[in-house]
Amino acid sequence: MTAKLGVAEFMQAFPLVCAEPANLHYLDNAATTQKPEVVIDAMTDCYRKTYGPVHRGLYPLAEAASDLYEQARETVAAFIGADTPREIIFTRSATESINLVARGWASHQLGPAKAAWVSRLEHHSNYLPWQAVCNEQGARLGIIELQADGALDLNACESLFSDETGLIAISLVSNVTGSIQPVADLIKRAHRHGIVVLVDACQAAGHIELDVAQLDCDFLVMSGHKLYGPTGIGVLYGRTALLEQTDPLLLGGGMVDWVGERHSQWSGLPAKLEAGSPNLAGAVGLAAAIRFLNEFELKDLHAHSQGLANAAIDRLQRLPGVSVYSSALSREGTGIVSFNIDGVHPHDLGQIAGEEGVAIRAGHHCCQPLMQHFNVAATARASFAPYNTLDDVEALVGAVERARMMFA
Ligand code: ALA
Repeated sequence: MTAKLGVAEFMQAFPLVCAEPANLHYLDNAATTQKPEVVIDAMTDCYRKTYGPVHRGLYPLAEAASDLYEQARETVAAFIGADTPREIIFTRSATESINLVARGWASHQLGPAKAAWVSRLEHHSNYLPWQAVCNEQGARLGIIELQADGALDLNACESLFSDETGLIAISLVSNVTGSIQPVADLIKRAHRHGIVVLVDACQAAGHIELDVAQLDCDFLVMSGHKLYGPTGIGVLYGRTALLEQTDPLLLGGGMVDWVGERHSQWSGLPAKLEAGSPNLAGAVGLAAAIRFLNEFELKDLHAHSQGLANAAIDRLQRLPGVSVYSSALSREGTGIVSFNIDGVHPHDLGQIAGEEGVAIRAGHHCCQPLMQHFNVAATARASFAPYNTLDDVEALVGAVERARMMFA
């Protein structure tokens, strides 16, 4: 077995964050991550050397392009422990993956007798599709509320774990606080009632191990660009039997075996759910990102990012007027810290920090239901990756101190 690389090698791999002189403190990794050279190279090589139509040509270049695409699917399947690459559907984004399940599967399953549940901490992509489908189907949308510390209040949800629930859609990691949800336990309880569980792993992928067999989830979604891969590529994992029940969102080329005047016959998995010319370079870039990550011990990378987040929490909590949200859970999370400063709008902080090269996100983080729980309209959010350092924490705290002075 080859020895794994360390955090120092990880840091050197990203041209944008390694640029000298270092004038960027990129702390917006929950929004999107930077790309390592190997991902950029893999995509460039694909366009330079192996670019052709996927599953649409019989000449060698087209076959090489098709092979690359299917190898990428195998890489993703192995990364999350899927039984077979047929259980991996490439989409444009995790958002599209969730919409595909909501429209293609859940809309036939939910109704007045079958509810869907989400948690209060879902980002809009894992909230709005369920809200829309429930409204259309006359199904109840239950919300798993949070305790004061931000933990899921599973015991307060009457009928959540009952035969009245058809589906639970839940994030493994909050995009606002980085807290890790007890999803494996929730799935165990849900399965006793035949409830299907979709796991949104967008903020977990690349931070903690993902194993769909161990989690025993029914669907799982993730995006490429939060995993050091490109934008424009997302993943839907589903158990074969469930994907077979899922209707395509998009109809068109590549997903059909024969077309008649009135009726047509869809192809089998995964083609049925991938209409249109596939995003070859996106899949290649995502596979390169996964191969890159496989060179490291994920737990070492995670310990580094979380160590920085904890240092930031320690420093911020010492400043008068600064509140960190769900700080205890955030300390056990994946390197995300959400906070506010009394009397300073997070947008103002975001701008002041930005002028100093500190890139953070300020706003509701596409997570308004959680903002309501915190009783705020917005927060500032710093999200760490393994290429960050204590220098970035210092720069963040410096920006917060200056914002406090300016608005005092
Ligand atoms: N969900 C992404 C974020 O938290 C967009 O920034």
